[in-house]
Amino acid sequence: MTEEENQSWKIAITGGTGMIGSAVRKSLEKAGHEVRVISRSGDEGTILWQPDEGKIDEDALTGTDAVIHLAGEPIAQRWTGEVRERIYSSRVRSTRLLVRALRDLPTPPKVFLSASGINFYPPTPMGAQLDESAGEGTDFLSRVCHHWEGEARKAEEFIPRVCRLRTAVVLSPEGGALAKLLPIFKSGVGGRIGSGEQPFPWISLEDYTRICLHLIFQSSYSGAVNLVAPDAVTNEEFVKTLADALDRPAVLPVPKVMVRMAFGEMGISTLYEGVDAAPAVLQADSFEFRHPKLGPALAEILG
Ligand SMILES: NC(=O)c1ccc[n+]([C@@H]2O[C@H](COP(=O)([O-])OP(=O)(O)OC[C@H]3O[C@@H](n4cnc5c(N)ncnc54)[C@H](OP(=O)(O)O)[C@@H]3O)[C@@H](O)[C@H]2O)c1
Repeated sequence: MTEEENQSWKIAITGGTGMIGSAVRKSLEKAGHEVRVISRSGDEGTILWQPDEGKIDEDALTGTDAVIHLAGEPIAQRWTGEVRERIYSSRVRSTRLLVRALRDLPTPPKVFLSASGINFYPPTPMGAQLDESAGEGTDFLSRVCHHWEGEARKAEEFIPRVCRLRTAVVLSPEGGALAKLLPIFKSGVGGRIGSGEQPFPWISLEDYTRICLHLIFQSSYSGAVNLVAPDAVTNEEFVKTLADALDRPAVLPVPKVMVRMAFGEMGISTLYEGVDAAPAVLQADSFEFRHPKLGPALAEILG
């Protein structure tokens, strides 16, 4: 255990009420740190902010050692014009507001972790194994991630370490993509999307929370980080492994036209296409994955 981990840190987290944020908050609290959730809810004990209106309780952030920024409108919904605007502004404008508030503090935090997505990169075939030096794509999610990260990078001027978390699909039965897929696969009608050859980048929720603690307390790294398990799989491999874990068949392929009809561009961008990225920074930084391989990870996650 490092000296930092031994001390109790004050850590503020946006999105701390969400699927990932709740898990990160719990593991930080378990390790003895004081966590304050920054939320739009105004619930007791939380720090109030209203990113849409450019408002945040700056005083409540005084004395914060680390900040984790995960807030954002859910991606998994039909991308109407209004939804696109919310997906974009809930990330870009909220980051701008948060960074501005942190800049005004008498003492800035020591480290800032800011969420981003693996869709920062353009879609790739399997085998591409993009590391963090690869450039951004041009589709909607790539542009969101690019601008989102751009706002986070402004904190590099006054916070010693700023990490941008380029995150793959986070696997947890309690929420996100896996919770949506489970009923379909349990009823035996799951199947590969299109050819199934596209990459399906993934990471377990447990490894995600461990990476946050690693980056805050054990690492001296600053910059982009790919949060993706080392065992890269195709969509077809993912589907087969999930069906095997549930002891169900997965024989019905889902054609592109159905994905487009059901989910619009969101489905094409997140299901029909994929990014093959490698956790190059984490591996160079001696991070050890608890779930490097999909089969054992799913077996454990699904209990
Ligand atoms: N889950 C994944 O597989 C995955 C993959 C890649 C990247 N990410 C990114 O990681 C972050 C956390 O993901 P998650 O799955 O934990 O998300 P989540 O469960 O949907 O939670 C996101 C949180 O953001 C806040 N929020 C929601 N809509 C908002 C809006 N319009 N404006 C401002 N805040 C809003 C909410 O907090 P309050 O209601 O308390 O304000 C909510 O608890 C997101 O930014 C997401 O894009 C997730």
